[in-house]
Amino acid sequence: MPTLKFAVLAGDYIGPEVMTEALRVLEHVAKQENLTLAYTKADVGGAGIDNHGKALPDSTVRLCEQSDAILFGSVGGPKWEKLPPHEQPERAALLPLRKHFTLFANIRPGLLYRELTDASPLKTERIPDGIDILCIRELTGGVYFGKPKETTTLPDGDIQAVDTMVYRKSEIERITATAITAARGRKKRLCSIDKANVLETSVLWRKTVTAYVAQHAPDLELSHMYVDNAAMQLARNPNQFDVFVTENMFGDILSDEMAVICGSLGMLSSASLGAGKNSLGLPFGLYEPAGGTAPDIAGKGLANPCAQILSAALMLRYSFGLEKIAARIEAAVKQVVTSGTRTADIAFGGSSVGTKAMADAVIKAL
Ligand code: IPM
Ligand code: MG
Repeated sequence: MPTLKFAVLAGDYIGPEVMTEALRVLEHVAKQENLTLAYTKADVGGAGIDNHGKALPDSTVRLCEQSDAILFGSVGGPKWEKLPPHEQPERAALLPLRKHFTLFANIRPGLLYRELTDASPLKTERIPDGIDILCIRELTGGVYFGKPKETTTLPDGDIQAVDTMVYRKSEIERITATAITAARGRKKRLCSIDKANVLETSVLWRKTVTAYVAQHAPDLELSHMYVDNAAMQLARNPNQFDVFVTENMFGDILSDEMAVICGSLGMLSSASLGAGKNSLGLPFGLYEPAGGTAPDIAGKGLANPCAQILSAALMLRYSFGLEKIAARIEAAVKQVVTSGTRTADIAFGGSSVGTKAMADAVIKAL
């Protein structure tokens, strides 16, 4: 009986609420599929600050090191907003986790079911069949982590801040490899997004992606686009993309744009895959919903648990190699939502259910 060993870092506000439901769904499929769940919970984010004095407690890192994957909730919120920027839960928990485990490949599906097109700010005629695209974002390089990164006072008394955007060819190659695998599993079309008309890192990016795809994936249709144009094209006709790959900060921005055109953050999952392998020989990864902690609805039982449930499905797919079970969970969520059982964020003012009832419906569909 396969054992799934993972760390559960639920985080803050709605994090633990939606995590409880995702774990119930996992318990259910585990029973059906004869899997053993061996998960351990630990504090992260604001909960880490409150209980251990820091957003990413050492004990939490150790737990993750002993696990095959991390199921992550979401962190941060008004309670910790007054802390200095580098101590804020988002920055002090997520970024070091990504770096520590070299989670270089961030996979963000942009999925909007046809039945939910009204949830998108885009006109329905632009997305008659919904949206189905995939963002592959480089996650451990670029301007987020480049050195120097500092603020200094200059001799003339002025103050200067510097961030450094830096990429190595090897970093670009490994994210390209991830994008190739993703594109092969879909429509075999890959768009690489950069700013090669201005940035050195982007010139290297474009050259490297072009050469790598030519050598390793001549079967793919590769295109390139400048990031400013891509931002516009996403809003104009998102489905012209199938899989796109881009550097860290461009991916941060474009993935938020993708999230908003897909209607509700409550439906979007993500996977951050590591360079390292877990004890099963599969990628170690961190799986988290795209939305935040939603402090405004926390504690009310209203949050949409689908993104967390879908993130758990991604964990089964990538870190445990359980493709069929992952697809079964995804199909169950789709069936429930498209047949009309919805939380308030996707109910368009119609009748809605709460967090627990939503998960119950998914479990029933399974
Ligand atoms: C994301 C978030 C993070 C990022 C923040 C919270 C540090 O916006 O995961 O997209 O910028 O990567
Ligand atoms: Mg972001």
